Amino acid sequence: MNKIIYLDAAASALKPDVVINAERDFLLNSYANTGRGVCARAAAADEMLANARATVADFICAKPNQVIFTSGTTDAMNRIVNIVRGTRDVKTIAVSDIDHHSARMPWENTVRGGHAELVKIPLTENYDIDLERVPSADVMVITAMSNVLGVPQDVKKIIQNARSKNPNVITIVDAAQYVAHGTINVAEWDCDFLCFSGHKIGSNTGIGVMYIKSPDGWAPDKFGGGMVQTISGDTWNIDTSPNKFEAGTLPLTQICGLPFAIDAWRNWYGGADILSYIYDGLSKIPHIKLLTRQDAKIISFVVDDMHVLDFGSLVGAAGVCLRVGNMCASWIHDLMGIPGSIRISVGPWNTMTDAEQVVDIIRGIVK
Ligand SMILES: Cc1ncc(COP(=O)(O)O)c(C=O)c1O
Repeated sequence: MNKIIYLDAAASALKPDVVINAERDFLLNSYANTGRGVCARAAAADEMLANARATVADFICAKPNQVIFTSGTTDAMNRIVNIVRGTRDVKTIAVSDIDHHSARMPWENTVRGGHAELVKIPLTENYDIDLERVPSADVMVITAMSNVLGVPQDVKKIIQNARSKNPNVITIVDAAQYVAHGTINVAEWDCDFLCFSGHKIGSNTGIGVMYIKSPDGWAPDKFGGGMVQTISGDTWNIDTSPNKFEAGTLPLTQICGLPFAIDAWRNWYGGADILSYIYDGLSKIPHIKLLTRQDAKIISFVVDDMHVLDFGSLVGAAGVCLRVGNMCASWIHDLMGIPGSIRISVGPWNTMTDAEQVVDIIRGIVK
């Protein structure tokens, strides 16, 4: 069996020892639920939760009460639809063709119910969000970085331009891919909501973050244990954020690992040399058509006359793990006129040797 060359960070990152050890230690030595107990362990679990929230808040330049733990980006995106529609009358929703299914489908579902209309945010000829043509809408979904094209978008400017068209627009940033490659500053971007998944930056699955700029301005979308301040008979007072949006038991083990993942990942933010080597290597192989720019954070391509699934199986047999298909981003593939693509993405575990080997393997397959 060949050594595995894992080049699929954009799908899910491998987990560093610090995350695995922190979760193991929590499960073995400190496990308890939060927000309920008075014993020492419960107090320690509460402290762990507060510290994790503070680390996330610092990571995205937010305040701790603006940070809500979810099970991931998809969960957050679906919740945001319910939170926004619970309070606001939404008639127009702006989306773009670089969106992931998880960012756009929850809103498309609203449109299908006949409750609202979809508006497209135009793209430039390079498939970036066209800053000059940001439309007017009640809600705007902004993909901070496409999982196919890997180019960070100018989120701050997009939001400024959206507000110049409609000062009341609700802006929702999908940072699922962006989070792995750049600093998020929600205070500077001035978005209303933002979400990302921990598993894309080396934490466990089942944990994600939903940032809410004005948590007091929205009604909760979930009800249950832990989100009320007082309750008497059928009368209750809802707690303040974050409890307000965190009914039920949280994924505590995953939350415990998240700050370790964040610290490890923010010390890395690298891989440019590895990607650049692979990009150069692939650009010299006949029949490979690169879809991404040289400075993109991921590499996407297709091979003349070869189905992406066949390509995936062939490199897979040689030990290379990469992603093939429509990447849950069918709209950008439609726009490019292809059914799917092949994607290479890197993380802290990748080396230049991986880069050299993958180029050799692909050169051997695409003759
Ligand atoms: C841009 C983008 N948005 C949303 C998601 C959904 O993330 P998750 O599956 O962690 O909920 C992904 C996952 O690949 C993504 O790349």
